[in-house]
Amino acid sequence: MKFKLPKKSMHKGPNFIREVFERGAGIPGFISFGIGNPASEAIPVKEIQDAFDEIVHTNPIEILQYGPMQGDAHLAELTRRRLINVRHMPAEGQSILISIGAGQDLGLVPRTICEDGDEVYMDAYTFTSGINAVRNCGAVPVGIAMDEKGMIPEALEKAAKSGKGKYIYLIPNFQNPTGITMPLERRRAIYDIARTYDLLIYEDDPYGEIRFTDEVVPTFKSMDEDNRVIYAGSYSKTVSAGLRVGFLYGPEEIIGAIQMVKNNCDGQMPLVTQRVVAHLLDTIDYDEQIKKVARVYKEKCDLMLDTFKKYGSSKVRFTTPTGGMFVWMTMPDGVDCDAFFETCMEHKVGIVKGAAFAADGIPAGQSFRLSFTFPSKEQIVEGMKIVGALTKEVCGD
Ligand SMILES: Cc1ncc(COP(=O)(O)O)c(C=O)c1O
Repeated sequence: MKFKLPKKSMHKGPNFIREVFERGAGIPGFISFGIGNPASEAIPVKEIQDAFDEIVHTNPIEILQYGPMQGDAHLAELTRRRLINVRHMPAEGQSILISIGAGQDLGLVPRTICEDGDEVYMDAYTFTSGINAVRNCGAVPVGIAMDEKGMIPEALEKAAKSGKGKYIYLIPNFQNPTGITMPLERRRAIYDIARTYDLLIYEDDPYGEIRFTDEVVPTFKSMDEDNRVIYAGSYSKTVSAGLRVGFLYGPEEIIGAIQMVKNNCDGQMPLVTQRVVAHLLDTIDYDEQIKKVARVYKEKCDLMLDTFKKYGSSKVRFTTPTGGMFVWMTMPDGVDCDAFFETCMEHKVGIVKGAAFAADGIPAGQSFRLSFTFPSKEQIVEGMKIVGALTKEVCGD
């Protein structure tokens, strides 16, 4: 049979994240800074085990049946209350939808909102699934230039003038892949542009509460006077990624439409995992759990940056994230980044080429994403000594 996949279902170029994973698998001693997994030691394993026990034994038939389409009502309410009371988001005119991680939302949002050829504005370098999910809908992921504060408003405005834009996709806190947090005044400027060109904002914030400092920059959703922000969050990083529980919070009409699309994709969310998360929120000190995650991540982030400072070239630049899971390493112009990646692989260290995160119209660039959460501290030190020494060989002291 001859079958040709439609263009929208084809991914552009190779998958550099998977490449690191696949080539590193099975190599003894391989250290991967490529894998974007949370730190295993920050998962509240015992509490989750207890929650499963309790849920499976208390009312088994209820959780072994189909659950409500919009997600478990108690989890939805606990989540909604936190968004309103702790994250200061509006309550009026909003709906909540529990999803299979914030990852599912990346597909649901463009699928519900976009028509063929619509433009979606996003950071020049952003989360791969955020880019590809837009492509999968026949829409166009337009990369917007960034600086050290994130998306540049003037560049966004220039693109928005096409009149083809539907929404702006942003990861304003501890961005994946760069680790950048967008300051408040930049958020205001971007919101104003969304207003002028009547664009929605899709605020993807799975790392938002995992802060290394006390500084809290208000979310777009908390400043959303026009009700144009769709906010996505997740329990993957604060509780467990394997449970696959996230959520969307935003304008009633849009969330309602997304709900209908979701129903046609996967029906109901599994009830068991939702109840486990709800049980944890009811029984543990969730703020303390988030602080614990942040402590573990910060220690590893510091270790990664400090080790590089000691052993690496001063010509290489790093972002200094104030939360989240990633740092962005930029090599001087002229360095062959494909060759540098291969050299790191030969030395059994995996890093992800920045090209993996480039939206349409954006060059491969001179950067790499390094994730500091999953490897052990020993691996971080050993791996960064290797990466550091290799940068000195390539770029000089
Ligand atoms: C920016 C961003 N959005 C969404 C996700 C998906 O997270 P979840 O585990 O909640 O599906 C990730 C995970 O790596 C991410 O980095």
